[in-house]
Amino acid sequence: MKGIILAGGLGTRLNPLTKITNKHLLPVYNKPMIYYPIECLINAGIDDIMIVTGGNNAGDFLRLLGNGKEFGLKHINYAYQEGEGGIADALRLTEYFSGGDCICVVLGDNIIEKNIRKYVEDYKKIGKGARIFLKEIPDAERFGVPEIKNGKIVKIEEKPKHPKSNYAVTGIYIYDNRVFDIIRTLKPSDRGELEITDVNNKYIEWGEMTYSILDGWWSDAGTYDSLLKASLLIKETGANKF
Ligand code: DAU
Repeated sequence: MKGIILAGGLGTRLNPLTKITNKHLLPVYNKPMIYYPIECLINAGIDDIMIVTGGNNAGDFLRLLGNGKEFGLKHINYAYQEGEGGIADALRLTEYFSGGDCICVVLGDNIIEKNIRKYVEDYKKIGKGARIFLKEIPDAERFGVPEIKNGKIVKIEEKPKHPKSNYAVTGIYIYDNRVFDIIRTLKPSDRGELEITDVNNKYIEWGEMTYSILDGWWSDAGTYDSLLKASLLIKETGANKF
């Protein structure tokens, strides 16, 4: 399984912090944000990793991470997203790297407390379809929100005004290689992006979507409040723990 970290986008919700740097290079407690998704993949046993980034500061990822020696890696692959076409647009750029394999995608601003290795191992046993991770939260309207009937996800809505559950779809996704065929069929949403939620809804339509409720805490770090919350959680309990 290949690992993919999506760290493009403009991070406008964090302006002016992101005026002269990329969101994923900002500090979250004692490390740059991008360290957490890298550790998340490595702890899950995935060490063939591509980082997709973009914007004016893409070169700083190379300066910061190099070939990944600090993480015990021999090599990190990089791709450059032009513009801010959405999460699925960034993911599209990783098709060649994936080489037909399954992929574990982590959004560059998502941080978790615990290791996802057991879910990854579980998925590998079947190696087909999509697996997403949910977390119960009080402000679901900020995220992709699943509608669940009889224990099955029937649809995901992106940032709904009236969420149909109290769960967020977190930014960790496992897909088989058909994900790239799905992306080719997508049309930009009202906000002009290729949406990862549309990708997930296609797997739901096919009856090939499974989910787990994530252990431990989960936070994004893409707003002032969530950036602060993530820093405090890491200070209190640590992240990516075994
Ligand atoms: O955090 C989980 C949520 O992430 C999900 O619940 C939503 O369904 C999903 O759409 C996403 O929502 P956000 O609106 O929070 O996504 P955001 O635009 O902040 O992008 C999250 C990460 O994805 C960002 O840190 C880098 C990457 N990204 C995003 C865009 C728009 C890219 O690499 N390229 C892009 O063009």
